[in-house]
Amino acid sequence: MSARIIDGKAFAANVRGEVAKHVSALKAEHDITPGLAVVLVGEDPASQVYVRNKGTQTLEAGMNSFEHKLDAATPEADLLALVEKLNADPAVHGILCQLPLPDHMNEDLVINAIAPEKDVDGFHISNVGLLGTGQKSMVPCTPLGCLMMLRDHHGSLSGLNAVVVGRSNIVGKPMANLLLRDSCTVTIAHSRTRDIEEVCRRADILVAAVGRPEMITGDWVGDGATVIDVGINRVPAPEKGEGKHKLVGDVHFDSAVEKAGAITPVPGGVGPMTIACLLANTLTACCRANGLPEPDGLTA
Ligand code: GUN
Repeated sequence: MSARIIDGKAFAANVRGEVAKHVSALKAEHDITPGLAVVLVGEDPASQVYVRNKGTQTLEAGMNSFEHKLDAATPEADLLALVEKLNADPAVHGILCQLPLPDHMNEDLVINAIAPEKDVDGFHISNVGLLGTGQKSMVPCTPLGCLMMLRDHHGSLSGLNAVVVGRSNIVGKPMANLLLRDSCTVTIAHSRTRDIEEVCRRADILVAAVGRPEMITGDWVGDGATVIDVGINRVPAPEKGEGKHKLVGDVHFDSAVEKAGAITPVPGGVGPMTIACLLANTLTACCRANGLPEPDGLTA
């Protein structure tokens, strides 16, 4: 069998289009424009690219984008003061502090200083607790994007056997909670899991979020399983020329595609969904802040 390739790029474009439609209606009917503030501390090149893309796509969706770039040596107290200011600003509905922060800053402290209702990353301890107890929260963007694609492919996820490989706070754990909320039977597998290949083979839904290039090969994939590859790994690609690199996932695509029923590619799978879901979360935060109904299909 050769799998259906889930086109994350097209899916994300559709989500951004839906967000833009809602934003346009909010402006026309309520004179409200959602606003997203992104804070970047330092000059990490990958973070600079992410932040630029977030800013561009925020504006394309018709929202206000507020970018705050701080020097790498900024004292933590100054960053906390900026977060406080953004918390109090009614034009700002979402706040994101790009991670990683410089070593002299305490990431947990900074994240937990963001007002939970503006925490569009869903990393604040209140949002983590709300998600874990099945209550309304802000949901981390990458797992939300994975959930949207899974719901689109399967319809109902109820009763399916889901295996999440990786136990990070950003992807693995919230993904497991979302799948549990959709009534999957959920296993979190990780580096210490015994017989991990066999555990993965039993999955109807296999989510790979370990950050190890092409670790999950086709023989780990059950016949017809849906494979969601969250990994984005830059590896040498001598076949493209000396010193060249390419992006690969945590799944070995060429072997997994032969076993899976559906699979997300890298690049062009989960990646584009993350910013699309950040925009969706900002819209959701704006609707909640104004006591308006939340947009259908754009929340967990
Ligand atoms: N750095 C890499 N990915 C992310 C993300 O999703 N949110 C934040 N805040 N920082 C990141």
